[in-house]
Amino acid sequence: MSNLLVTGGAGFIGANFVHYWMENYPQDKVVVLDALTYAGNKANLEPVAKHPNFYFCHGNICDTPLVETLLKEHRIDTLVHFAAESHVDRSITGPDAFIETNIIGTHSLLKAAKKIWLDEGLNKENHRFHHVSTDEVYGTLGPNDPAFSETTPYAPNSPYSASKAASDHLVRAYHHTYGLQTTISNCSNNYGPYHFPEKLIPLVITNILQDKPLPIYGDGKQIRDWLYVEDHARGIDLVLKKGRVGECYNIGGINEWANIDIVKLICELMNEEFARNPSLAEKYPNATKAQQGQAEELITFVTDRAGHDRRYAIDPRKSNGELSYQPQESFETGIRKTLSWYLDNEIWWSAVMDGSYQDWIATQYAQEVTKA
Ligand code: NAD
Ligand code: TYD
Repeated sequence: MSNLLVTGGAGFIGANFVHYWMENYPQDKVVVLDALTYAGNKANLEPVAKHPNFYFCHGNICDTPLVETLLKEHRIDTLVHFAAESHVDRSITGPDAFIETNIIGTHSLLKAAKKIWLDEGLNKENHRFHHVSTDEVYGTLGPNDPAFSETTPYAPNSPYSASKAASDHLVRAYHHTYGLQTTISNCSNNYGPYHFPEKLIPLVITNILQDKPLPIYGDGKQIRDWLYVEDHARGIDLVLKKGRVGECYNIGGINEWANIDIVKLICELMNEEFARNPSLAEKYPNATKAQQGQAEELITFVTDRAGHDRRYAIDPRKSNGELSYQPQESFETGIRKTLSWYLDNEIWWSAVMDGSYQDWIATQYAQEVTKA
């Protein structure tokens, strides 16, 4: 049995991880610490909110005394750190929040973990600080470059990726210098349920449903390597169980797509869904292009993102070999599941954009952990 502290558990990947964990390890205690920024939403945790071993704390990872109290009071042995500012476009217009949360916040967690686990000796021999990072720390690839491996030199290009790279280095240093038992995973682009609709895939889906333009940055030929979010959770689980302390593991499923191709695919699948299921036209009366089987007419090329990385690709051989990691979802099945989820959950995506759902969901929680 384990006691987990999950930071950023009300965000996209953190929430999916918590669902995965509580389903597979219901005997474990899971405490979520989340500041509920615009990207954090208690509604994302609704499926586990009533679980007797689930706790929620509304707080900031930069609040070191709060983190120390949570580690002690819940006798935490495993910290899984998702909390971050995560959107590259926002990091270009407002980098300060990225420095604050991603660098200072990660350092705050490391300091608290060192104090409670190493200096005070709670779970001294048996603890784990797992840091969730990104493939974006490696920079950008040319069309024929080999994929990113764990030994690819860091070359972050955006304020987001630079702040994540800095946090990775701090985690490494706390292992090397103090002996904190750390692991890091660097994952490729995720997609799936609860993905905030500012990111490419959910933006395209929800914009089609509202007949809004689908903005393609630059020529749309930038390449990303996409992984279904539950397969990321499964990868982190394996790193926690089988990963070697002090190591980094790349997680990905060899699934490279140019942005324009993925947007065209979503348009096609959406046209098909509307043709197959006539009730969708009633549910989404504004989606006129999808109703006519012409969602792709919404595609609009716009000015490119500043410093836009051309290609990301993960070489997963280390996690495949050492951890026996294999994603379970193909892109075909994962994207269809994602599409269905958004079609069934208009209440979620329309509300996260206006915030009203958060007021309602705030009344749904039995075990709120208040600030110490
Ligand atoms: P997200 O933006 O959806 O969620 C971030 C969560 O962190 C939100 O719940 C937010 O409220 C919380 N948070 C932000 N600042 C906080 C603070 N100071 N204190 C406490 N909580 C705070 O992000 P995501 O897409 O779920 O990404 C989660 C992690 O995975 C990040 O560390 C990100 O770098 C990493 N990652 C993301 C992807 C991806 O494709 N989205 C890929 C690889 C790695
Ligand atoms: P995004 O989902 O923001 O993830 P990241 O920048 O972390 O990879 O973007 C994925 C790709 O899609 C990226 O190359 C930028 C591009 N993009 C668009 O073309 N249009 C959009 O409206 C958005 C949000 C992204």
